[in-house]
Amino acid sequence: MSLLEVDGLATHFRLRGRPRRVVRAVDGVSFTVAPGELLALVGESGSGKTTTAQSVLRMTDPTAGTVRFAGQDITGLSRRRLKPVRRRMQVVFQDPYESLDPRFRIGRSVAEPLAVHGVGTRAERRDLVLAALERAGLSPAAAFAERYPHELSGGQRQRAAIAAALVLEPELLVADEPVSMLDVSVRAGVLALFDELRAAGLGILMITHDLSTTAAHADRIAVMYLGRIVEEGPAAEVIANPVHPYTRALVAAVPRAGEERRPIPIKAGEPPDPAAIPAGCRFHPRCPVARDECRRDDPALAVVSGAHRAACPVNLAPAVPTEEEQCAPSRPR
Ligand SMILES: Nc1ncnc2c1ncn2[C@@H]1O[C@H](COP(=O)(O)OP(=O)(O)OP(=O)(O)O)[C@@H](O)[C@H]1O
Ligand code: SF4
Ligand SMILES: [Mg+2]
Repeated sequence: MSLLEVDGLATHFRLRGRPRRVVRAVDGVSFTVAPGELLALVGESGSGKTTTAQSVLRMTDPTAGTVRFAGQDITGLSRRRLKPVRRRMQVVFQDPYESLDPRFRIGRSVAEPLAVHGVGTRAERRDLVLAALERAGLSPAAAFAERYPHELSGGQRQRAAIAAALVLEPELLVADEPVSMLDVSVRAGVLALFDELRAAGLGILMITHDLSTTAAHADRIAVMYLGRIVEEGPAAEVIANPVHPYTRALVAAVPRAGEERRPIPIKAGEPPDPAAIPAGCRFHPRCPVARDECRRDDPALAVVSGAHRAACPVNLAPAVPTEEEQCAPSRPR
């Protein structure tokens, strides 16, 4: 059974002022995360990744759809009934200072979630904090517990924030761009920690705009564009055989050895605006292979092969054989 099941999730923001504008930040996404699985939600800035994560965690209330956690529909739960569920799903932010108070020693910040949920005695909390710091790769834990956030390196600070997320022994970790503020040299270490955590059974929803850091660490990838998932599937399969032109562009933008960045090779034009989503296929204004029908029809995800799905009927359609191919004699086997 899936740990997290998200079905038809939409989160729209109504902006004040005239004319009334509705930001369709998340516009109908469905996905699952199983125990011990890392699903990477990939997409450009503004595609709705953070809003999806916040809606799953009920930090933002969704407009439509359902979020089920361990079989329970949590979409409409009151704050009081949500609290025991939130304990089982924790979050790591891009900026570790979201979880670490600069005025407090690391040990106190990591103990904070235990205090909020009333877990253990003082001595038990101390043991749990040290165990979480060790698990997050900060050893010797007792020494790190005494330090202040500014005394740690960037990578160590993010590990401390991860320890604060792990201290309650959650089943699901939602990590929003957990390595994008880190030096390239320490990213691999933090991602290796995610590998260890998922091997130990933790389900992880990892949000990133960077396909290259994701590829080796995700079981599955879901690519988001303007509030929708436009392609999803096993990570290796999506990277090796991308079908949607947007995924193809993201794959083409993965930097080669020695490169820091590579531009995404699609029409720039107007930046995509979730308050003015184009009719038809929402990618058509930037799509290099758009056809007339793409301005009219809004494609749904369809099977490429196995669990690999994409929302581009144009690239999914089997190639029509040319007249020459049709007439050519079949080759001897
Ligand atoms: N509270 C809000 N009110 C209005 N618009 C919002 C709100 N939160 C997010 N948005 C808009 O929703 C869209 C999606 O934002 P979101 O932060 O989810 O994107 P993202 O994929 O996480 O981007 P990034 O990579 O920059 O973090 C953006 O256009 C953003 O401006
Ligand atoms: S459906 Fe059309 S516009 Fe959309 S991605 Fe496919 S070819 Fe491009
Ligand atoms: Mg974001």
